[in-house]
Amino acid sequence: MQPILYTGAMDAETLYLMDELVHAERVVLGCWKCMRGTLDGIPVVIVRTNQGMANAAASTALAIERFSPCAVINQGTSGGHAPELHRGDIVIGSRVINMTAVRTPDRARGTGIDMDNAQPRGLEIANTEPGDGRKMTEFLPDTALLEAAKQVAWSEGRVVSGTIGSGDIWNNELDRIHWLHTNWGTMTEEMEAAACAQICAAYEIPFLGVRILSNTALHGESFDEATGLACQKFARAVIAQYCVNK
Ligand code: 5AD
Repeated sequence: MQPILYTGAMDAETLYLMDELVHAERVVLGCWKCMRGTLDGIPVVIVRTNQGMANAAASTALAIERFSPCAVINQGTSGGHAPELHRGDIVIGSRVINMTAVRTPDRARGTGIDMDNAQPRGLEIANTEPGDGRKMTEFLPDTALLEAAKQVAWSEGRVVSGTIGSGDIWNNELDRIHWLHTNWGTMTEEMEAAACAQICAAYEIPFLGVRILSNTALHGESFDEATGLACQKFARAVIAQYCVNK
């Protein structure tokens, strides 16, 4: 069986999984921390991508080239956009978007900034031959991974499915968060999932993003990286369920 690739940006989002590995082996993967081994009898690779879209994309591509994973799960902390969600709740990514890939409307000098009418800008996927590229504005999960995630029994917080918004941005403006939630359906935001999903789409590898709320500006709940532990446990349960279903 080809391994499952887990990606997470920080120690708080990867150390539990790394510590739980059986037959753990440290692997050199560029400048990213990487371990492989088995978890619940399943061959896995865990990469600490470091924060941000470029880190996530580069380390995911390297790991795919090196390990040919059969599926990729990106997981970790995030900031809530949905009013009904609180710190500790989990969003299963039924859709992942890059919130910062936008094209603004034409506006003359002196007429101001109008993010309200910015349109999603498609991101190019695979272009090895002239004309074979396509542009994607959203990334959908693999249905079997999504189903497995929905089947996980979880009592530590709410679990919902919805859109995860990514970008090299940390939004604290409540009007902007409301706009993103209302217009683009974001339930929570973070900085890696869409980059990881984009690379998986290019390589045609099944992908799922899962994010726990570590903070939500909507309720004044500040960042708690310790939430990353529960998200790793949830992601582990998703993969165990996925393998049972197969
Ligand atoms: N906005 C953006 N990124 C967040 N993260 C947690 N909360 C947020 C938020 N509100 C995650 C990112 C990044 C690190 C800063 O934590 O994915 O890796």
